[in-house]
Amino acid sequence: MEEREYYGKYYEPLQELKGEVLQWLDDIVAAIAGEQGEVPVEHIRSRIKSPEGLQEKLKRKGLQENVEEAMCQISDIIGFRLVTHFVGDVYRIVQYIKEDGRYTVIKEKDYISSPKQNGYRSYHVILECPFCGTENERLRVEIQIRTIAMDCWASLEHEMRYKKHIENAALIEKELKRCAGEMASTDLSMQTLRDMIRKE
Ligand code: GTP
Ligand code: MG
Repeated sequence: MEEREYYGKYYEPLQELKGEVLQWLDDIVAAIAGEQGEVPVEHIRSRIKSPEGLQEKLKRKGLQENVEEAMCQISDIIGFRLVTHFVGDVYRIVQYIKEDGRYTVIKEKDYISSPKQNGYRSYHVILECPFCGTENERLRVEIQIRTIAMDCWASLEHEMRYKKHIENAALIEKELKRCAGEMASTDLSMQTLRDMIRKE
């Protein structure tokens, strides 16, 4: 089904909020760039969840499969991803998001200090934003912040997840996790190099 049709009366407000939060994130990134003299992000992406993806998630969570339910229960109908150069940039951005106070941070997950069992690393922040049309006039949005290396790993892992008709799944999982660890250690080395260059 087409997005506009599926989201109905929520479609325009969703687009509007997505644009508003994106502008706010752009401003935060610009402020950090001004302060440290280097742009902290490689790119920012924003999306509204596809109707198929949303229906699948409602089903998986055992919720009613309609938009009203989704608007109340699902935190990532609107999602943002900020891909940074260095690990320190991730925490700097999180700090700005929290200190700015424009939107309420209702949940944080630091999968960098505590990676998921499979090796996934990223920092997730759930915000609550004013939103006309829902029962409580609020909508939660999800922001994922991660380095290029973490993003690289997550993309490849996501890609491979759909090819689950594999024989040696255990070995592949173990190797994937090892790669995540190696990329994390490279991230730390890169951070150290940048800090050394900055000091000069
Ligand atoms: P969902 O019900 O899928 O939203 O999971 P959750 O409510 O436990 O939230 P969590 O913060 O763990 O994950 C939210 C999002 O992070 C997912 O929709 C993915 O975009 C991303 N993510 C989480 N875990 C993984 C993972 O193992 N691999 C990849 N590639 N992405 C992940
Ligand atoms: Mg999710």
